[in-house]
Amino acid sequence: MKPTRLAAAAFAAVALSVPLTLVASAAPVVDDRSPGHAKKDTLRRAAPKGFHIGTAVAGGGHHESQPYPDPFTSDREYRRVLAAEFSSVSAENQMKWEYIHPERDRYNFGMADRIVRFAKQNRQVVRGHTLLWHSQNPAWLEEGDFTADELRSILRDHIKRVVGRYRGDIQQWDVANEIFTETGELRTSENIWIRELGPGIIADAFRWAHEADPKAKLFFNDYGVEGVNAKSDAYLALIAQLRAQRVPVHGFSAQAHLSTRYGFPGDLQANLERFAALGLETAITELDVRMDLPESGVPTDAQLAQQADYYNRTLTACLNVDGCDSFTIWGFTDKYSWVPVFFEGEGAATVMWEDFSRKPAYSALRSTLASASRR
Ligand code: XIL
Repeated sequence: MKPTRLAAAAFAAVALSVPLTLVASAAPVVDDRSPGHAKKDTLRRAAPKGFHIGTAVAGGGHHESQPYPDPFTSDREYRRVLAAEFSSVSAENQMKWEYIHPERDRYNFGMADRIVRFAKQNRQVVRGHTLLWHSQNPAWLEEGDFTADELRSILRDHIKRVVGRYRGDIQQWDVANEIFTETGELRTSENIWIRELGPGIIADAFRWAHEADPKAKLFFNDYGVEGVNAKSDAYLALIAQLRAQRVPVHGFSAQAHLSTRYGFPGDLQANLERFAALGLETAITELDVRMDLPESGVPTDAQLAQQADYYNRTLTACLNVDGCDSFTIWGFTDKYSWVPVFFEGEGAATVMWEDFSRKPAYSALRSTLASASRR
């Protein structure tokens, strides 16, 4: 059953009207903030069998310029919630080129290894992110003076080494990330690989990744491709072409960095369905819903209700599409969200407050997962 806008608003009202002081009181008050409740009624427990509910694991990237230590290794409460709530984890930055391959002859696998180990210990699958991208590449690569042959073997070696290291441990790899512009052109000038080696390198990246881990599902991933538009059209055409050439492409995923400033992409489900019709898996990989913060810094009830509605509709669209079995939010607590760092004046984009207490969006997700489990 798909909860309506009103249902999401009702979650907001309920969650906000429960006074904090009631937290410690005995049953029947259902309060998402009570620790006992948190143990049993989690997202992963509510989810239908085979449906993976994931989050990014905070670390690297913007976190390195924040006044706190590495969240994943330093924050025990963070790790507890990460294990309790999610059945899938994605490396937020720890498998990106600049992080995992900081010098030409040196890899830095430490943190990625820890994430993969943590996932095994907690019966979670892992999404690998990412292998061919225009952003967050190390200076030695972007500023190096390499011949085309050298660049080709640099990419090949990287993919073989990184994908091979986690062979069997990664459920889905974002092989290619953000290769198209809004108008559906390849990002040729920005993307070092496409610029220097031509568009054929994209197929090679998928082939190399497949050789290194034949079981991993290989994805194209991008933002702004939630709806049917020039960019998602470009992916549909490219993927159809690659599949016709038997290139091992298995999935298409929408990041879903949404904002309450804009309308919800109401054709999300229809868009995912046209990729499913090609025989592809689909996924939501980086969902967050940012909002303009009022001067007080505290979102209004109406904003939280709208946010819950966007989270809920994104989840519902995925649940409704065959082969959309992986749904990942880009961080679960505002404590570590990338949003305030990248979008001035915006924030509160995740499903939990900084103290890990749950927002209406959290309740909306859990309730929709539970309904889907019963249908
Ligand atoms: C973001 C991370 O969350 C930040 O920590 C980092 O500083 C920048 O990148 N699309 C993607 C993600 O594919 O890798 C980006 O993650 C967000 C947009």
